[in-house]
Amino acid sequence: MLIRTRDNGFIHPVSSEITPRSAYAGRREMMKLLAGGAAGAALAGWASREALAQTQRPGKLAALAGGKSSVAGAVVMEKVTDYKDASTYNNFYEFGTDKADPAKNAHTLKTSPWTVEVDGLVKKPARYTLEDLLKLSAQEERIYRMRCVEGWSMVIPWVGYSMSELIKKVEPLGNAKYVEFITQADPRTMPFVGSRVLDWPYVEGLRLDEAMHPLTLLTFGMYGEVLPNQNGAPVRLVVPWKYGFKNGKSIVKIRFTDKEPRTAWNKAAPQEYGFYSNVNPNVDHPRWSQASERRIGEDGLFAKKRKTLMFNGYEAQVGQLYAGMDLKKNY
Ligand code: MTE
Repeated sequence: MLIRTRDNGFIHPVSSEITPRSAYAGRREMMKLLAGGAAGAALAGWASREALAQTQRPGKLAALAGGKSSVAGAVVMEKVTDYKDASTYNNFYEFGTDKADPAKNAHTLKTSPWTVEVDGLVKKPARYTLEDLLKLSAQEERIYRMRCVEGWSMVIPWVGYSMSELIKKVEPLGNAKYVEFITQADPRTMPFVGSRVLDWPYVEGLRLDEAMHPLTLLTFGMYGEVLPNQNGAPVRLVVPWKYGFKNGKSIVKIRFTDKEPRTAWNKAAPQEYGFYSNVNPNVDHPRWSQASERRIGEDGLFAKKRKTLMFNGYEAQVGQLYAGMDLKKNY
């Protein structure tokens, strides 16, 4: 079923000018705060202020300001979703299956100390502390649409850097074709790990070229602050042209492989959730249409839905990754 809706807005490529490191006000302070586990700091950075001007006050977590993104398609000229909605309407099944559960329960997640192990088909496997990862490249703010497979969407200012920066450091071998993202599964701090809803840990995967795409963001913050626990602290992935479930939260391991990884949702319901899961209004979910979406916080219950865009509106940037592929088969 196709529903006609009002204009969805469009993508504006941003200037290719790269903001110098010195312009990242607050980054040093943030590192100190993170190291000390303290919360509450002033916000800084052009984009954070711009995003926040449209939103409610964020969560008073440690500041994590990023410079203006240098990646085309990284800024969506649409109203940014309120911080309150983005941090209280979540999917994080380790903390419960209701949208309100993660915000209520994720305070038990222990985010410090945190390490991410990178191994598999790479020349330089390594175990990174969160602090190492934060220092690896300059933080950028990227305002992305996020479209959940359930039919809703948000616009969120994330802070991080392209996943490709980390990939380049570990030097994938010639036979590495895929990247597997393995997330934290600690039953002592995550009350729903052990429930039978998914086979834990929550695992996601990308083809190596998808992981290398500049839009793929290794994400440490949102709205100019470090990630709230319920949004996948301290480090998660955001792949804006794919359904939200591809964005693994609270990542502890990144593995390079030659075989397509089995992902948590693909294992749970292979006929419903394929490996690619690119946002595609022309391929229905077996139980519902994907042609339209409800923007959280903006559209009332009876308001018209928005038309879902091919690759979530990022077709100009990522379409060529799938040239010649049957996207109905490769859902
Ligand atoms: N990551 C883990 N570890 N566990 C999850 O249940 N849910 C996914 C994804 N990442 C999930 C996860 C789904 S279904 C979505 S839509 C997004 O996280 C939601 O991200 P958000 O809550 O930050 O909006």
